[in-house]
Amino acid sequence: MFNYDSFLKNKLRELKDAGSYRYFLEVNKSAQHFPHFHYLNNEGVQRSGVNWCSNDYLCMSTREEVIAKLGFVTHRSGTGSSGTRNISGTTIYHKELEKTLAEWHKKEAALLFNGAYAANVTALQTLARNISGLIFISDERNHASIIEGMRGCKNPKMIFRHNDMDHLREILSSLPAEQPKLVVFESVYSITGTVAPIKEIIELTKEYNALTYVDEVHAVGLYGETGAGLFEKESLEHEIDILNGTLSKAVGVFGGYIAASATVIDFIRSFGSGFIFTTSLPPAVCSAANKSIQLIREEREERQVFHQNVLLLRKTLKEYGVKYTPNDSHITSVPVGDANRCREVAHELLQKQSIYLQPINYPTVPVGEECLRIVITARHQPKHINHLAYSLNKILNARPVIKYNEANV
Ligand SMILES: Cc1ncc(COP(=O)(O)O)c(C=O)c1O
Repeated sequence: MFNYDSFLKNKLRELKDAGSYRYFLEVNKSAQHFPHFHYLNNEGVQRSGVNWCSNDYLCMSTREEVIAKLGFVTHRSGTGSSGTRNISGTTIYHKELEKTLAEWHKKEAALLFNGAYAANVTALQTLARNISGLIFISDERNHASIIEGMRGCKNPKMIFRHNDMDHLREILSSLPAEQPKLVVFESVYSITGTVAPIKEIIELTKEYNALTYVDEVHAVGLYGETGAGLFEKESLEHEIDILNGTLSKAVGVFGGYIAASATVIDFIRSFGSGFIFTTSLPPAVCSAANKSIQLIREEREERQVFHQNVLLLRKTLKEYGVKYTPNDSHITSVPVGDANRCREVAHELLQKQSIYLQPINYPTVPVGEECLRIVITARHQPKHINHLAYSLNKILNARPVIKYNEANV
């Protein structure tokens, strides 16, 4: 007879043997002292650490105005929406946020989801299941949510090499002109931090009459005059067909969305199972996200501080001889290339230096590309950066430290 328990346990054992088993650290965040947090170490003693992997890039989750909105609307409207959008789950806060998102991305309409993951899966599946013969053309480095979205339908898929425009052209030109095509890519790739050649992708896709779908999850809030993302930075907002974003990273609250033409949004709203059959976001969450976006649009200085911090981090890593993979974004990954080593380094960083850097292992990255992904925020200070670079040098290079000033830590 099939032994379910031992089957599952064996699978977990294999994962542990491969060094890819996930251990969750309790990262007890402090709004006041961010990026500091507290946790219990192996001996059960409470310790303080510095978080280097939060996606709260602009620290909006700790902003008084955003927190106050969340509290105020919770008191007024209650905690949950308790309904799907169609059945008592739409409030003025949902509508206002969708209006803000559409304006921000210069689109006719926007649609809220409980996360960008859900937005990717639902939007991609809904289009593919309803447009007969639609073929996905997807960058090989696309996020798990995009892959999951494409997997959930029987439509054919063609994968182009990461950011390789010759390969994309080769694929597009090999397909019949009348075949519906959907080109899916990210603007900033979440782990490697590589940036898509969005202008070239738009030009190519127009030439071959393909629909375009971009995941701007790691660009929203950080790029462009008002922080709407890379498409704003390149003034290409009108050229992209469907844009996906999150409210959970730079916006610092919770949820996801797509922005597109009124027709596309109405279509996904009307046919998307993952939109229709789930409870909508809590009203207070919508209101807090709206407040956060208002601040992000107004306050350009926060974005500048953030990008200056990215430059300072990279300069300091170089000074300490810590190798990272160069790219044009804000995500700095330090290659390690082995799952167990990656976990060991992260463990040592936490236990000996009170630095929290989550190892990025398979299946988030292919085997052999394990890395430490450093995410800086607007609130990290030079002393934090120096300490990180010093510690990485010490652990990764295991050679004498070139420069370190105790007083800086
Ligand atoms: C590129 C990308 N797309 C989508 C998502 C999912 O976003 P959310 O957390 O809003 O579901 C993530 C989250 O890590 C991501 O990195």
